[in-house]
Amino acid sequence: MDNKLEIIILAAGQGTRLKSAIPKVMHQIGGNALLEHVITAARHLTVAEHITVVYGHGGETVPNALAHTGVQWAKQEQQHGTGHAVAQALPHLKGGGTVLILFGDVPLVQPATLTRLVSAAGQDSLAILTVELDNPYGYGRIVRNETGAVARIVEEKDATPQEKTITEGNSGVMAVPHQLLARWLPQLGNSNAQGEYYLTDLVGLAVADGVSVKAAKVGDADEVFGVNNREQLAYLERVYQARLAQRLMAEGVTLRDPARFDLRGEILEHGTDIEIDVNVVLEGRLTIGARVKIGPHCVIRNASIGDDTIIEAHSMIDAAVIGAGCRIGPFARIRPETHLADHVHVGNFVELKKSNVAAGSKINHLSYVGDSTVGAGVNIGAGTITCNYDGANKHQTIIEDGAFIGSDTQLVAPVRVGKNATIGAGSTITHDAPADALTLSRSKQMTLQGWKRPQKSSVKSGE
Ligand code: UD1
Ligand code: CA
Repeated sequence: MDNKLEIIILAAGQGTRLKSAIPKVMHQIGGNALLEHVITAARHLTVAEHITVVYGHGGETVPNALAHTGVQWAKQEQQHGTGHAVAQALPHLKGGGTVLILFGDVPLVQPATLTRLVSAAGQDSLAILTVELDNPYGYGRIVRNETGAVARIVEEKDATPQEKTITEGNSGVMAVPHQLLARWLPQLGNSNAQGEYYLTDLVGLAVADGVSVKAAKVGDADEVFGVNNREQLAYLERVYQARLAQRLMAEGVTLRDPARFDLRGEILEHGTDIEIDVNVVLEGRLTIGARVKIGPHCVIRNASIGDDTIIEAHSMIDAAVIGAGCRIGPFARIRPETHLADHVHVGNFVELKKSNVAAGSKINHLSYVGDSTVGAGVNIGAGTITCNYDGANKHQTIIEDGAFIGSDTQLVAPVRVGKNATIGAGSTITHDAPADALTLSRSKQMTLQGWKRPQKSSVKSGE
């Protein structure tokens, strides 16, 4: 961490080409706002109090949404260009060190690259991060003189046809000693194609002042790829996901197809020999134990999964804690505040909500269990429903250890099924069922001997 380093992040622009009601920098990749990615990179270099974000378009929604980052905010009421934006941040800076300028719509920039640029600027130089591009369209171009030294930056809209052939582009990232920045900003003009105060004109001012301009080239163009439209947003999402997938594989996780894997959040902790099949979406914050298998088309959000658990295809798990050695799905839905102990089985078309299920219990087919406490070694038969809601309030169902619930039972809460109790199939249980006994509610079966089915009338109507 560099105590003398301060960082400005420009994030006031509208992002017209996204055609969105949401400010550009709040669009997401990997489940986090573009701007949050940039703040995270900046936080690798300095403390939050030394980071100032220039916001404007979208008003307070941006600082409100990212208040938890602890950065400083400077408002740019009207967007008169990147140079004007930096000028809005200047009063918030302490000064005396280097200032690093980042863009809120360039989310994948790496801390190591930024550190390299800051050292290039040193005490007395202007350092810019440039990139060699196959298609430099839209980028400012780095104009060099006969000796190869950087002379100035020209924006796409101001460039001559000759200048447009230059393939070295401006990433927008720049490092500059504070006192030089403070000297040059008031000298920026806006007589250009867009009538804006261009930050890029600092380069020409530096050259005029005899200050050296260092250009550091970034190897990977995706690192400085900016988002201006939804196609670019989708492109960067894939770049980002490919990086996450690569990292997970390096850490011992099998991905059946890294191109069909999405992590929108972060895996806080994971074991090895995990197998993740195609089209799995992981969201929020996750912990995944060793040897866990996740079948195709599962969505798992804010969950913790114990070692050796198998999650079969098309299951959804949301804000739940799953123990070790469990079997979930296919087609299971585990909703928030559910806690499964070890070796629990949850089968197809089973929905669990706000329930605790103790070790070794089985809920294998077509059931709804909500607001319940289920003991250990319980077997819940097919089609069992806890009727937890009376239209006004939610009530608890308690099923004690070793109970056996026959198929197609309704447990009308509040209700308790005692230890080792058995409930006969097809029962509607409205009162507590005692331990170690059979309880059932069922109308008596009867048979009518000699009964005949009605016959179809042979006389055709209308004749
Ligand atoms: C800018 C650079 C260009 C570079 C490109 C790289 C300038 C003049 N041009 O062009 O050389 O190749 O980025 O992506 O700097 N912003 C504000 N307030 C404003 C204007 C912009 O905060 O008044 C913010 C935007 O929200 C955005 C960033 O600055 O995060 C860049 O602005 P944008 O309009 O996207 O600049 P480009 O035309 O892409
Ligand atoms: Ca841009």
